Order: sequence, then structure tokens, then C-alpha cells
Amino acid sequence: MWKKWFSRSEPGEHNNYDKINHEKLPRHIAIIMDGNGRWAQRKGLPRALGHRAGAEALRGIVKAAAEMGIQALTAYAFSTENWRRPADEVQLLMSLLADYLDNEINELHQNNVQIRFIGNIDGLAPGLQKKIEKAQAQTAHNTGLILNLAVNYGARAELLRAVKIIAEKAVHKELALQDINESIIEENLYTAGLPAPDLLIRPSGDYRISNFLLWQMAYTEFWFTDINWPDFKPVHLVQAVYEFQQRERRFGGIKNTKKR
Ligand code: IPE
Ligand code: IPE
Ligand code: MG
Repeated sequence: MWKKWFSRSEPGEHNNYDKINHEKLPRHIAIIMDGNGRWAQRKGLPRALGHRAGAEALRGIVKAAAEMGIQALTAYAFSTENWRRPADEVQLLMSLLADYLDNEINELHQNNVQIRFIGNIDGLAPGLQKKIEKAQAQTAHNTGLILNLAVNYGARAELLRAVKIIAEKAVHKELALQDINESIIEENLYTAGLPAPDLLIRPSGDYRISNFLLWQMAYTEFWFTDINWPDFKPVHLVQAVYEFQQRERRFGGIKNTKKR
């Protein structure tokens, strides 16, 4: 099993782990893993090394989220717009993903993590698709943390896909217009069956959604930090969860509305 992270915060680090209310954990945390390029640039390193360090950061955060007892973690790894980057950078990101699966899958499996992918997986190279299918199948029955990796993911593409699936059913009279409701839309998103994210974390000092989980984040709490993703540590996850727990979620209601 993975060793405990929170009992051993680094010297000088302020760790709020003891203050976390384990009865009030976010069920689902979404993370935009941003800032790899800037991390590298600040160190005078090539962007590639930023991405490698970013993959390391993900390893640590997955362990931390599992230890904390989070149900689902959705990490944005590659967007539908990231194809606009230079071909060699795209290639590197894809091979890092393949390496992540090769190197981590057994450990994830041993730790009861269920790995899922969201996004247009059919648009990835066949070899990577095979690894993804294998990883999903191997861990499908695990009951611990759901690690949801968003790859070739765009929220607009996800909604468009859902609209097409629903429209097709309507055209074939399998679904009546009056029966199309929010649940039907949710059932046709990649995230079907998962609770909406309670908390979104975006590192690196940018304050935008970048086409991530647009439908699902209608009532998500946002937490931003200037730290770049490769420097994001379990203590930062703890801090985000701690601050999340101080917030009052109203869902359009008034103070003390209990629904979540
Ligand atoms: C996030 O880091 C990784 C991906 C988007 C795949 P970036 O590469 O976007 O890093 P910055 O934003 O340039 O610093
Ligand atoms: C969002 O980061 C996508 C991922 C982290 C995978 P970007 O770096 O692509 O977002 P923008 O372009 O700054 O909005
Ligand atoms: Mg970026």
C-alpha cells in the first residue's frame, strides 16, 4: 500500500490535514494541471521537462487524494485545443501519458484505484487507445478512488456529442421531446454516473475554465493558486480542501440550505 503522505509534511510546510473534516470532503475534485511550461521556463529548462515534472506531480496527488478518501479525481491532461501546439510537444504529451499508464497501472490497481478516461479517445493513436482500454479494464472493478483522466477532452465537444446521441434517439422516436431533461443530458456526458465536481483546482495563476466540464461545473467551488502544477504538492491539495470546507454553498438557495 502507499505510504501515508499527510503525516510527513516537509519542514516549514504548513499542513492543515488535521483540520480537515472527513465528514465533509468534496466527493469529486477536478484539477486543471496547468503551468508546466512556465515552471520549466522559470528554471531555464525545455518545456518537455515541465511536462515530465507535471506527470510526477500527478503521481503524488493521486496518492494523496486516495489517502484522503476522495471518491473521484478528474485531471485535465490534454484538451481538444492542445492539438494546436507544436507536433513535438503533442507527441511528448502523448508518450508521457503512455508511460504513465505503463509505469503506474499496477500500483494504481494494487491501491484499489479505478482508472477511467474522458474525452475523444477514438481520436488518439491506436497504441495509446489499447493501453487506455487495458488500464480501464484492469481496474474496472476497483472500489477506491476513481481517477478520471481527461484526454483529448473538450466540454463543448462533450456537449455536442451528447446532443447528437439524444437527437438521434429523438429522430428514431426512441425518446420523446418532453422526456429530454437534465438527467438525460447528464447520462450522455462522459462523466455519466459521477457526482458533479464539488471543487475545481486551477494552479499557475490563470483564472479560466479552458473548456473543462462546462455543464458539470455549474455549482462547483473554484480554488486558484499561483503555484505551477509541477510544484503542486499534497499540502496544496489539503489547503484547497480545507478552504473548500470553509465556504458556504447555497445552490441558489439561502444560508444553511443543506442540499449538496
Ligand atoms: C499544462 O501545462 C499541460 C497541458 C496543457 C497539456 P502547459 O503546457 O499549458 O503550461 P503553461 O500554461 O504553458 O505554463
Ligand atoms: C488547459 O490548459 C488544458 C490542460 C491543462 C490539459 P491550457 O494551458 O491548454 O489552457 P489555456 O490555453 O491557457 O486556456
Ligand atoms: Mg497552460
